[in-house]
Amino acid sequence: MSDNTFAKDIHKGLSAPLKHISSKYFYDDIGSGIFQEIMKMPEYYPTACEFEILSMQGSEIIQRLNFNAPFNIVEFGAGDGIKTRQLLKKLVETNVDFSYVPIDISKKAIEALEANMLEHLPDLKIRPMIGNYFSMIEELSHSGVPSLFLFLGGNIGNYEVHEVNSLLASFNQCMKTGDKLLTGFDLQKNPSTIRYAYDDPKGITKAFNINLLHRINRELGGNFKTSQFDFYSFYNPVNGEVRSYLVSLVKQKVHIQRTDKCYDFEQNELIRTELSKKYTLPEIENSASANGFTVMEHFLDCKHYFTDSLWVK
Ligand code: AVI
Repeated sequence: MSDNTFAKDIHKGLSAPLKHISSKYFYDDIGSGIFQEIMKMPEYYPTACEFEILSMQGSEIIQRLNFNAPFNIVEFGAGDGIKTRQLLKKLVETNVDFSYVPIDISKKAIEALEANMLEHLPDLKIRPMIGNYFSMIEELSHSGVPSLFLFLGGNIGNYEVHEVNSLLASFNQCMKTGDKLLTGFDLQKNPSTIRYAYDDPKGITKAFNINLLHRINRELGGNFKTSQFDFYSFYNPVNGEVRSYLVSLVKQKVHIQRTDKCYDFEQNELIRTELSKKYTLPEIENSASANGFTVMEHFLDCKHYFTDSLWVK
C-alpha cells in the first residue's frame, strides 16, 4: 500500500462529518506487535478458542473435506500461522499429498511465515503467493486441484455487513464447485466477556488504537498530541457489534504535512476506528446461503465462544 493511499484515506476519514480511520491501518510493525500482546491477554479469548478447535478437531475437519490428494490449503492473511500449524501438522504426520499456499500482500510477512513453518514442519510443501486475494484465487482455480480456503482468526468480524457480502461473493466467484471455505467467526456470548476482551484493564487495546495517531505522526508528518485522545469501546448485545473509537479530550487542531491540511476536533468528538462483529449461528448460515455456499459443519470450542465454520461451494 503506498503512502499516498494512506494519506488519501486519512484525509477522507478526518474530513468526514463522523470522523473515521480504517482498522486495516492498525497493522504497521508496531501495531502488529501490540496485536501479538492482545492475543496473549487473558481477557482476549478468541485466539485460545480457535487454537483449541484446530488442535483438538483438526482430524475431523480434514475428514470432512473428502478431497482426493493432491489438494491445496490456501490461507488468506495467515499472520504468524501458529493456529494453522495445528491443522497442517496432522496432515504432514499422515503423509497426505497437499500444498500449503499462504497469501499475503506483505512480502516480509510471507517470508517470516515460511521460515517459521519450515522450522516446525520441515516436510511441509509450501507455495507462498504474494498479492491480492482474488487474483490469487483466480490463478489457483485453473489448476484443477481442489482447495480448502482458510479465513481464520475472526477477521471477518472486522468487515461491515455489506463488505462481508461482497467479500464472500467474490470468494465464491473465484472458487471451483466442491472447493471448501473454513472461516473463523466469534460468537455472541455473555456481553461482559466480550466487553473485557475489547477494553482491557491494562490499556493494551487503547495503545493499539492510539498507535493509529502515532502512525499518522510518523508516516504522514502529523502533529497529534496523543495524550489529548482517549479510547472508548462498547459492545451492543442486541446487534452483536463491538464499536471502538478515539475521543478528542479537548477542542484542538491537528496538522498533517502530507495532506497539507488542518483538522478541527471538538471536545469529545469521536474518530470511529473498528467494528468487531459477534455472530449467531443462524446469522452465519444466512451469510453462507446468501453468497452461494452450503454449511457443512460448525466446529466450536468447548465453551462455544467461537466457531470455525466449514462451507462448500
Ligand atoms: C484482527 N481482529 C479479528 C481482531 C478482533 O478481535 O476484532 C482485532 C482486535 N481489535 C481489538 N482487539 C483485537
